[in-house]
Amino acid sequence: MSITTTTIAASTTSTLITNIASLVTNDSSLGDGTPIGLIQDAAVVIDGDRIAWVGETRKAPATDNAVDAGGRAAVPGFVDSHSHLVFAGDRTQEFNARMSGRAYSAGGIRTTVAATRAASDAELAANVARYLAEALRQGTTTLETKSGYGLTVQDEARAVRIACDHTDEVTYLGAHIVPPEYADDPAAYVALVTGEMLDACAPYARWIDVFCEQGAFDGDQARAILTAGLARGLQPRVHANQLSYGPGVRLAVELGAASADHCTHLTDADVDALAHGDTVATLLPGAEFSTRADWPDARRLLDAGATVALSTDCNPGSSFTSSVPFCIALAVRDMGMTPDEAIWSATAGGAAALRRQDIGRVTPGTRADLVLLDAPSHVHLAYRPGVPLVSSVWRGGTRMF
Ligand code: NIG
Ligand code: FE
Repeated sequence: MSITTTTIAASTTSTLITNIASLVTNDSSLGDGTPIGLIQDAAVVIDGDRIAWVGETRKAPATDNAVDAGGRAAVPGFVDSHSHLVFAGDRTQEFNARMSGRAYSAGGIRTTVAATRAASDAELAANVARYLAEALRQGTTTLETKSGYGLTVQDEARAVRIACDHTDEVTYLGAHIVPPEYADDPAAYVALVTGEMLDACAPYARWIDVFCEQGAFDGDQARAILTAGLARGLQPRVHANQLSYGPGVRLAVELGAASADHCTHLTDADVDALAHGDTVATLLPGAEFSTRADWPDARRLLDAGATVALSTDCNPGSSFTSSVPFCIALAVRDMGMTPDEAIWSATAGGAAALRRQDIGRVTPGTRADLVLLDAPSHVHLAYRPGVPLVSSVWRGGTRMF
């Protein structure tokens, strides 16, 4: 906070937002000194695409433009570090069947693969844009998304290419399931995923992911796929321990993956590995909600010292929600998180899962991604579930609405 009034006033693009009832900064050196660095009666200065100043309104510097937050709370833009938006089709029937008692299985992915292969590029791009806009309306300013519903060289390559037009955080998930045409020869599919398909997708992706699960890819296959990705400069993240216990989490930690996602079935050794490794545990409660599965135990992970992120897993099968606020409410109500922990995990936690320093916090130098809530405090995100509290969003310094 070394920026002076003069420097800020000299800029033509600076905006002062005042009268913020409470501001979550996620900078523990600010405000109440907790991990969420909560400042009461706060103000924020945005200069260009960055946060230039944060503090109490009474100490705020003068700027060219001023916005009165009207006593609303402000939080960092949500960082949704796990979604699957490049898809076509609909799985209402499968959801209906589940709500009548049928169990979720990875096999449903095939329905979306068939619809996605049949869709045009324009349809897929329109879908991505639609769900990104839906997420932004709910406060998401950074969103990772994956391929994984194409499962041919051409269809995976177009998925990452389309994703790349909409976000910097693109994940190659050729290893989502073994597609039907390779059912008799999964090894040949792994060879494709680590060979020609990887070559076609690597230029458009930052990350590589594997669904390490019974009925998808086992530990050895997952290791081969992630290692091949690493060799091509893609960083690993893993769908791990979602439907059953297994090797995914420990493999993720061993390979230095940025994130192990789902973490629903964890042994003590898995929790210990996450607590001592460099891998974030990303919890996706929309999936447990929509598959009527047991909740992941966030409390156990937090008490052990793991870093926890919260994301939507938005996809047409297991979790068809783009709402981070909904996931926050579930995490608080059913996974043992406090509202402060949940807001941290949905912002700074997501940033950690994407290995990003520039987002997830509202402190000088970070990207100006800010959400105003029609509420006096971020706690209302869990206290008032299902209510559209997001009233304004700035992304990279631009007011989106
Ligand atoms: O993260 N677990 C694997 N993939 C998705 C589900 C995809 C689907 O059912 O279409 C998930 O839950
Ligand atoms: Fe997923």
